[in-house]
Amino acid sequence: MTIDPRDFEFIRKLVRERSAVVIDFGKEYLVESRLARILRARKIPSLGDLVSLLRAAPGDGLCEEVVEAMTTNETSFFRDQACFALLQDKLIPELLAARPRGERLTIWSCACSSGQEPYSLALLLHEMAGQLAGRKVAILATDVCESMLLRARQGIYDQLEVSRGLPASMLARHFVPRGRAWQVKPEIRALIEFRRLNLAGLWPALPHAGLVLLRNVMIYFDVATRQRVLQHVERVLEPGGYLILGSAETMFKLDSAFERRTAGGAAFYTRRSA
Ligand SMILES: C[S@@+](CC[C@H](N)C(=O)[O-])C[C@H]1O[C@@H](n2cnc3c(N)ncnc32)[C@H](O)[C@@H]1O
Repeated sequence: MTIDPRDFEFIRKLVRERSAVVIDFGKEYLVESRLARILRARKIPSLGDLVSLLRAAPGDGLCEEVVEAMTTNETSFFRDQACFALLQDKLIPELLAARPRGERLTIWSCACSSGQEPYSLALLLHEMAGQLAGRKVAILATDVCESMLLRARQGIYDQLEVSRGLPASMLARHFVPRGRAWQVKPEIRALIEFRRLNLAGLWPALPHAGLVLLRNVMIYFDVATRQRVLQHVERVLEPGGYLILGSAETMFKLDSAFERRTAGGAAFYTRRSA
């Protein structure tokens, strides 16, 4: 299967408009392989036919399906252990210590994919129950992909997924078997609110967050979109709050209000002091 250049351009534009994800030229193979599943499932003969259907009915759920197929959802529990050690040993204790008792701490996982990132946070907070000393912590988890949010809300993971990064003791304590898979227990799921949010779209009103995890998503955006997203994040982050990017991400070329700091081999960002 080889995609016609005009069809490739159509898909590129569609995905960019709806998610801000940039598909570079030369990534035709990616479009072909990711959309092959939709062709099979919907019995559409070719990519050309798929694009004709998309052109004819742009409001149809098919567009959504194509955009979702083109986003990269790779994730795992406790992805980047140095980051979670930093959260446990420094950032979360500092945020808790800095707020009056009774004031809730909100943690926001901005591009949560199938949920492993916010569940890792919820499990970490469960382990830190002694330090919370009754303080309330809310986790907000958002993503542009409805199909990922559906999976995340269910909290069901197969054997391969739970073997990636999740300590066996946590699996035993906080998951229940569901056939050949595992489901996060309801009391852990209840700690997280999942919502759809397109980081590149209009931003709804959001609670102020003490900690924002914006990990492994800005790499898919162009510089102007990254800049806009960071400006929004700056407004959501409460004074003294922390921002975390993916371990391989930087603010290189971005004129942002954030300053990079490191501790224990992991990086985090604070608002630049005036
Ligand atoms: C590679 S995953 C990262 C998941 C998790 N943050 C981690 O680091 O493991 C990237 C996620 O970003 C989401 N995404 C892509 N474009 C987005 C947008 N415009 N707004 C919100 N989420 C987006 C994708 O749906 C995907 O689930």
